[in-house]
Amino acid sequence: MIAFDEEKRIFYLENKEMTYAFGINAAGLPEHLYFGKKVAHDLFFGNYFRQGRNHPAAYPENTENAVDPSMVPQEFHTLFSGDYSEPTLMLDFSDGSRRLDFRYQGYEILPEKPELPDFPSLRSDGKSETLAVVFSDRDVILKLFYTVYEDVNGITRFLKIENGSREPIRLERAYSFAFSLPAGEHRDIGIPDDYEAVSLSGGSGAEANISRTPLSRGIFSVQSNRGASGAGANPFLAILRKETTENSGTAYGINLVYSGSFTLKAEKTVSSLLRIQGGINDLGFSWKLRKGESFTTPETVMVYSGEGLSGMSRAFHDLYRNHLIPKKSVASPRPIVINNWEATRFLFTREKLQRIIEAAAGTGIDSFILDDGWFGKRDNKESGLGDWFVNEKKLGSSLKEFISYVHSKGMKFGLWFEPEMVSRDSDLYRAHPEWAIADPNHKPLEVRSQLMLDLSNEDVISYLTEQLDRILRENEIDIVKWDRNRDLTEFYSAGLSPERQGEFEVRQTMGFYRLAGNLTKRHPEVFFEGCASGGSRFDPGMLYYFPQIWTSDQTDAYERTFIQYGTSLCYPLSAQSCHVTESPNRRAKHFVPLKSRFDIASLGAFGFELDLSVLPEDQKAAIPLMIKTYREEEALVQKGDLYRLSDPFSGNYFSMELVSKEKDAARITVMKGQEFFNRSECRIFPKGLSEDAVYFCGELGKGLSGRTWMNFGFIPVFPQGDFLTQVYHFRKTEKKSEIE
Ligand code: DGJ
Repeated sequence: MIAFDEEKRIFYLENKEMTYAFGINAAGLPEHLYFGKKVAHDLFFGNYFRQGRNHPAAYPENTENAVDPSMVPQEFHTLFSGDYSEPTLMLDFSDGSRRLDFRYQGYEILPEKPELPDFPSLRSDGKSETLAVVFSDRDVILKLFYTVYEDVNGITRFLKIENGSREPIRLERAYSFAFSLPAGEHRDIGIPDDYEAVSLSGGSGAEANISRTPLSRGIFSVQSNRGASGAGANPFLAILRKETTENSGTAYGINLVYSGSFTLKAEKTVSSLLRIQGGINDLGFSWKLRKGESFTTPETVMVYSGEGLSGMSRAFHDLYRNHLIPKKSVASPRPIVINNWEATRFLFTREKLQRIIEAAAGTGIDSFILDDGWFGKRDNKESGLGDWFVNEKKLGSSLKEFISYVHSKGMKFGLWFEPEMVSRDSDLYRAHPEWAIADPNHKPLEVRSQLMLDLSNEDVISYLTEQLDRILRENEIDIVKWDRNRDLTEFYSAGLSPERQGEFEVRQTMGFYRLAGNLTKRHPEVFFEGCASGGSRFDPGMLYYFPQIWTSDQTDAYERTFIQYGTSLCYPLSAQSCHVTESPNRRAKHFVPLKSRFDIASLGAFGFELDLSVLPEDQKAAIPLMIKTYREEEALVQKGDLYRLSDPFSGNYFSMELVSKEKDAARITVMKGQEFFNRSECRIFPKGLSEDAVYFCGELGKGLSGRTWMNFGFIPVFPQGDFLTQVYHFRKTEKKSEIE
């Protein structure tokens, strides 16, 4: 709900547990006041930095309450305004002036959140109000939008800049949000070290490593310049108080609903405020706005947790499951696939595919995904991308016939695409070389031997929409896996005038969203999975279109514990696509038993990716039970609350717990990394249970109160060996025989 204190000019965005507040100060600037546990409507200005009040006011009016703008925590910051910290907005007027002075004009409360014209965004689902606050300077209108969610401790924000003047203006930076956190109580003459940043970084095959960095004077930033959110840095930043832990203390989570190059910054300012802001990466960015035109930024999600990092994760998971991921898929049973990629790579034959499909049929695996290599001339990465026509010779029949063969085995059919790309050796490139992104003065870089298509070109979008739509219309395709295997290197479009080249990268991302939107809208019956060389584009922008994303090409179950643990900081387990693959794994060479591979893969959207036809009989025989178990517990993965119990980054054990929303069931998965002799054991303390209810754990043969389980804990017992898992199920019971 949104309340406005007319007298003090303070906006309160609040739900049952949380308040986000800012006010319009005497100078007409939006002063950030508070973000945290719910408080009464009694906040006041000037609480973030008292000393600043003694400095001469830098505002032209020199109003009573005005202070040096660098000291004021604002909801946006501008350059050349006496505010010497990082700006949120930068723009050039046609007369060369870059001075900005946006002042408050008014506000509106909208019952529904407006859709963003060019970017995906969270739904408000008729339950959440949106506040639009208007500022203006020299006929340029700046609108700040805020939506507060009733069911989750989070808000979303974006900005809109409208050029109401006769002359064109040029945006040089347009971040999506800014807010500040006050200096903590550790302040002394040194630099206060009261906050720490948590971020996710890595690379393809090693996504989502967690780092925790103390924030000192200066700027800490997380960013991508790749034209995609990227595995190098996820568009996520958490700010924690120094004393915050996994399960206790204050944590703020920030995540951009954007899949292109981004920046998130946390800056310790001169006044020791911590200013946090970010959005589209402005390296090379500019955007021209003619009279009457506007630019709306991507959306940012901001969550508050008083229960440490894990509370932050649960808030993100609920927000995304309730308001972002396509409704029809979020909680319905996901396909359990067998994918041929790791078994065959490009070099499959009809015979090989059939062997895999026959081995899967009847086990409960319900879908077959035909990965890369089915189209054009594609026996390796050197050719074929863009030619989305089936290679009948290689497949041994038409696509239609092959699909009906798969269907006849009782399985759904899925097909791999990489729509945003083209190979130089392809009919599409020969027909339309101008559609590939290239700087006119340099030979374009080929990465994985491929070029990228210019999605800022409407003709390319229409062509791709029609081509993919044709295949989806003409064939009974149930699932699409949408891959992207390289990043942008040439930031140039032949279709844009020289003065608009700075718009290219953002237009490329907008083009991808349009294409994904066209196809997902036209084919609501198809289930889409995102992918980008594994998890190189794992972000909320993708989740708006695709309910799940291939988490990593690293599929070794032990290595996956790190990747899935890191990814869970921000993204729900049901969004993470996880497969049982062969052991020793192609990349990590660990010998991991099938049970462990299953237990780790079933912490996500589960499937298989190996040659089932050569699996030893006893392992093949175990598959039906695995699938039955997965289906029985799928609701926990899709709807449950996540608690991370042991952190593989800092010890030998990985452990995650899922607790049903009703708190009547919980499941704890533990993996022991390496076998050690006589080292300390792992003790597991379940979380999130009802204190007074009794839970029976079959594996431990005990029924104890939630309070006892959570405080007394238990020691998981493993046989000898590396990479072993144990799974413990807890269910509420009132049966006398199960109560100790
Ligand atoms: C990268 C993906 O992550 C893999 O799963 C596979 O689809 C290959 N691309 C195919 O080229």
